[in-house]
Amino acid sequence: MKKDLLKMENLSKEEILDILNIADQLKYEHKHGIEHHHLKGKTLGMIFQKASTRTRVSFEVGMYQLGGNALFLSSKDLQIGRGEPVCDTSRVLSRYLDGIMIRTFEQKEVDDLAKYSDIPIINGLTDDEHPCQVLADLMTIREYKKSFDGLKLAFIGDGNNMAQSLIVGALTLGMDVSIASPSGYTPDDYYLELGKKLAEKSNAKFALTDSPVEAVTSADIVITDVWASMGQEAEAKERIEAFKGYQINEDLMSYTNPNSLVLHCLPAHRDEEISTETFEKHAEEIFDEAENRLHAQKAVLVKLLGNK
Ligand code: CP
Ligand code: NVA
Repeated sequence: MKKDLLKMENLSKEEILDILNIADQLKYEHKHGIEHHHLKGKTLGMIFQKASTRTRVSFEVGMYQLGGNALFLSSKDLQIGRGEPVCDTSRVLSRYLDGIMIRTFEQKEVDDLAKYSDIPIINGLTDDEHPCQVLADLMTIREYKKSFDGLKLAFIGDGNNMAQSLIVGALTLGMDVSIASPSGYTPDDYYLELGKKLAEKSNAKFALTDSPVEAVTSADIVITDVWASMGQEAEAKERIEAFKGYQINEDLMSYTNPNSLVLHCLPAHRDEEISTETFEKHAEEIFDEAENRLHAQKAVLVKLLGNK
């Protein structure tokens, strides 16, 4: 049966670790010039209803490095943009392609695409989740910290797609997770409930607070994201007001454990959710994180489109 990556909860702990192990191997091979054409002759369609730098380039380059091909499909040019139903688009594309990566607004659109297609569907970001980014984050955390045991991850800011996928990914692996968001901007109840269940299963701690200091105290990894996501541009001003005090800066970082990491999925708004000083101090790990999109997604592609 085909397998999709629609949400982080589609992956068990074992499956996440398997993807991370394959990603490490592919990264090593790439750095050492070892060819790995696991997807020779395969084509990935990439549907974009929102802007992208990293997701588009890393998927396209990733398919090329795996010996396959990627097609950029802007929703503006597809008939879907003129009202052709997802159920028809999905069945047609299943006849040509070997997999689809889609970036869109509603999670339901991705779920519907998966329901009607015979080929794997990969969520390249929705309003609810960003699983490909979180796999790259987890890969980066393991590169720097060597293991996930005993780590505390703090997410500061909007309870958005990144926060929600991180809750699921980090708790599935047994890390402690603390989220600090102002009232009205917390993750959806669905993710707070799921987080509680995953924490219980993993014997980990899961906390939601409106205090950034409380969340980052003794943290090993601090993560943030923009205060206004794609599609929320009109709310940008009121959000800057609502998120005052939620900036990651050197003062906040002084409460974390020694050698703590700072991650940001990018693009970053310097001196809003993160100070320029803190961003530049942690630029090495932030750009490793961006690079790891390539390796982590290649692992997902090999798992879903290949025979692994
Ligand atoms: N982090 C991320 O998904 O970046 P893009 O929006 O540039 O793809
Ligand atoms: N939360 C951001 C992530 C961008 C990669 C957004 O959805 O715009």
